[in-house]
Amino acid sequence: MATSGAALQLKELQRYYESFGAVRGVSLSLEPGQFLTLLGPSGSGKTTTLLMIAGFLEPSAGEILINQRPVTHIAAHKRDIGMVFQNYALFPHMTVTDNVAFPLKMRGIARKEAREQAQHFIEKVGLERFARRFPAQLSGGQQQRVALARALVFSPSLVLMDEPLGALDRRLRLQMQEEIKKLQVDLGLTVVYVTHDQEEALTMSDRVAVMENGLIASFGPPKQIYEAPDNRFVAGFIGESNFIQCQVRQQDQNYALAAVGDCGDVRVLMRQSAQAGASASDDSVIFVRPERLHLCTPDDHYHNKLSASVVGEIYLGDATLFRVRLADGQEVRVKRPNRGIGAPLHPGDHCFVGWQTDDGVLLRH
Ligand SMILES: Nc1ncnc2c1ncn2[C@@H]1O[C@H](COP(=O)(O)OP(=O)(O)O)[C@@H](O)[C@H]1O
Ligand SMILES: [Mg+2]
Repeated sequence: MATSGAALQLKELQRYYESFGAVRGVSLSLEPGQFLTLLGPSGSGKTTTLLMIAGFLEPSAGEILINQRPVTHIAAHKRDIGMVFQNYALFPHMTVTDNVAFPLKMRGIARKEAREQAQHFIEKVGLERFARRFPAQLSGGQQQRVALARALVFSPSLVLMDEPLGALDRRLRLQMQEEIKKLQVDLGLTVVYVTHDQEEALTMSDRVAVMENGLIASFGPPKQIYEAPDNRFVAGFIGESNFIQCQVRQQDQNYALAAVGDCGDVRVLMRQSAQAGASASDDSVIFVRPERLHLCTPDDHYHNKLSASVVGEIYLGDATLFRVRLADGQEVRVKRPNRGIGAPLHPGDHCFVGWQTDDGVLLRH
């Protein structure tokens, strides 16, 4: 019994507490069946945004549309939204079945039908053997599954989740991520998911909105957010990043020639968004991921090569992270997969750091 997800639109949504803007103008559009993650540091406005969508918090300004219908001033229980929180919020005196059936009872559905429907979702989250237990007799992961079943049981068109896996250990979190994703796809649900865990955001989402100080700093598919962040905050918040100080010497439509101290010139990608208001010789940074940098020799075929020396190495299991100092004193991190390829390198060794033109992006701020 597939439900079909709703389209969601936020238009300049704001929430002020006196003069403090917890959310200062959030606009975005989601298509039916998409999984959106609000990702951002603590205090960036994720929960506030979610509570406004749910109808638990009145916006100071702006509009919320579900399937093109304005719901901004419609009561929470009339919005057809399921919710899952970090702290489960189960009823301790009710069994698993009664917890899951509760939303159906509230909607006036007959007891027998409610129990059957609850049973169906209890099976979907793999808890059929625990249906008669009380929440205190379940592990954290099992309780979160009950909360999930309860949020889905009335076939909502939109499901909101606020750090639902935050209290679970890593292994269980990864497993639950997969299960939630599978349910979302199977049921065609539209989901708005809140996390401060970037890995979770990248693996689960169709769209990621990176939030900073009550605003969306970047919005797009995970791959775009990770590989082509459009500003320094986003590049620094997601994944590991190098920011190499440079001076722009020349620029054309898509590329710039930049000097890295007195180490030499490199050619880097320049996006349209980075060009606005910039002029040659502005101080800028080159953004490049550690896995896109290579420890190489002068003969290797990388577009850009800078002379450097190894400062330190950190063994990561599948890879080694090298700390490397460029000739002008800046340090960068280079991640090298441990595949037995490449000469062994140790602190003090001289080397070159190379990368392909399109792997280094000029950022202005
Ligand atoms: N009731 C409130 N009164 C005043 N400030 C609030 C209130 N609720 C949230 N805030 C503030 O709004 C900002 C955003 O909060 P929140 O949306 O909970 O952030 P997040 O979920 O991203 O951690 C925070 O600085 C928080 O302190
Ligand atoms: Mg929060």
